[in-house]
Amino acid sequence: MNRETMTVALGDRSYDIFFGQEIYSLFQEWICRFYPGGTVHVVTDRNVASIYGDDIRRWLAGIPHDVLALLPGEEHKNFDTVREIYGFLARGEAGRDSLVVAFGGGVVGDLAGFAAATYLRGISCIQVPTTLLSQVDSSVGGKTGFNLPEGKNLIGAFHQPRAVFIDDAFLRTLDDRNLRAGMAEVVKCALAGDAELWGRLLAVGGKWKSLSGEEWRWVVRRAVGFKASVVERDERETSLRRILNLGHTIGHAMEKSGGYGRLLHGEAVAMGLAWEAILGMKLGVTGGELVDDLVSLLIDMGFPLDDPGVPLTSIAAAIGMDKKRMVMDVDLPLVAAPGRCELRRVPIAEIRRELPGIRAEIRERSIAREINIPAGDAIREESPDSNLVRVGDEVYEIRLVEEKVALAVLVEAAPEVVEERATAAEPEPEPAPLEIPAALAEPEPEPAPLEIPAAPAVRTVTLADLYWSQGEHSTARRIVGEILRDDPANLRAQAWLAARTGDDLVEAELLEFLETMAKEYGYDLS
Ligand code: GLY
Repeated sequence: MNRETMTVALGDRSYDIFFGQEIYSLFQEWICRFYPGGTVHVVTDRNVASIYGDDIRRWLAGIPHDVLALLPGEEHKNFDTVREIYGFLARGEAGRDSLVVAFGGGVVGDLAGFAAATYLRGISCIQVPTTLLSQVDSSVGGKTGFNLPEGKNLIGAFHQPRAVFIDDAFLRTLDDRNLRAGMAEVVKCALAGDAELWGRLLAVGGKWKSLSGEEWRWVVRRAVGFKASVVERDERETSLRRILNLGHTIGHAMEKSGGYGRLLHGEAVAMGLAWEAILGMKLGVTGGELVDDLVSLLIDMGFPLDDPGVPLTSIAAAIGMDKKRMVMDVDLPLVAAPGRCELRRVPIAEIRRELPGIRAEIRERSIAREINIPAGDAIREESPDSNLVRVGDEVYEIRLVEEKVALAVLVEAAPEVVEERATAAEPEPEPAPLEIPAALAEPEPEPAPLEIPAAPAVRTVTLADLYWSQGEHSTARRIVGEILRDDPANLRAQAWLAARTGDDLVEAELLEFLETMAKEYGYDLS
């Protein structure tokens, strides 16, 4: 078993992100430790429940719990579904000491997180993200909410989870299209804040699916680490956190103007990253070489970089709509160098003006990449909006492969298809939500109650805080003592100890603690 932990340091809202395989044993232990008397309310969706429903019940065997399986998909990220979750919590007699477990992708995480943020004025929630996109983005940072008919994510709350459990085993059951969509957020993190991750992604290129387990976990940890570091510095998105919107200004506009459900969010973000990089080049911030690398990487990863069925006028109209408000300018994240992003206030009108040139450039670069010629050698036919591109004596037309998902497919204008890609259609949603009462859903014999290990397997200052808040002071001190034994320079552990050697710790407890440390670890705290 291979585990690692990362802490999102947010004062009394700090929490740990646990990475690993077979993370469920830690998940069991964590719940038993911190919610020993409360009930556990698992919110998932029908797709996830069809794969992991039995596992969830097995992992929670011996712990009072119930499971709600929602209708899957962005189209159900609405208030009706939130009400469904409220009803589920009320029927399950959830109290202030209860725990909501958001088990699924980004939609489940946002909905369950929002219900937890608002039920009884806020109860605890943990995130168990099962898609790559939710692992590297939405499960961390505390943004929760749902859509209104008037717009996406118009209602929401910041509600940090108490813990996040990331297990790459969940990704084995994810289809290629969704896995790829998650990679767009990984590329975003690399470009915006992690040059080493960027270098690794470029080196791997189109072979990203054959990364070894260890390499894969490294990539996910780096992306999550970057996100966590941004959230720590600007939890409520007053400034710095806006760099996480890299690729999203144009990406959201493409997603919206094509009609939600046509592109996956990550596919739209990949387009947005490429388009905004070209915009950055036009604004003198992003170098041409970086744009070449990004466009090549995204194409090699299998992303379409345009949705030719969507007119520029629709994209232009959607840009600048922020939560139903038309804004005049936007703090646009632009990449100055790999891993270095800057926010620049750009008038929306300027972005709109550049759109035809950006689309033309994307087409030229895409074609050049497909047929392996330098980008500058492809020449557009007629207007910037034309679907025809001339390369030498040949003319190529960009057209849709499928009605449902628009892909930039290159088709030789006259006779022959150069290349064709197809993408799986979204599964149809099932008709009605499904609540699985634990009692009804367990045909197997009653499992034995869980053994709670004597000491936690993972030691972090946040865990120590949780033990402390539950009155388990000696365990909390023991954890911090062990952290300091292994890493005497650990500043958080030192600060934790310093804070608790004042008023809150009576002298006898302190003496006992010092003696334990001296006896067990030979650690000199004198
Ligand atoms: N997904 C962007 C953020 O969490 O701020």
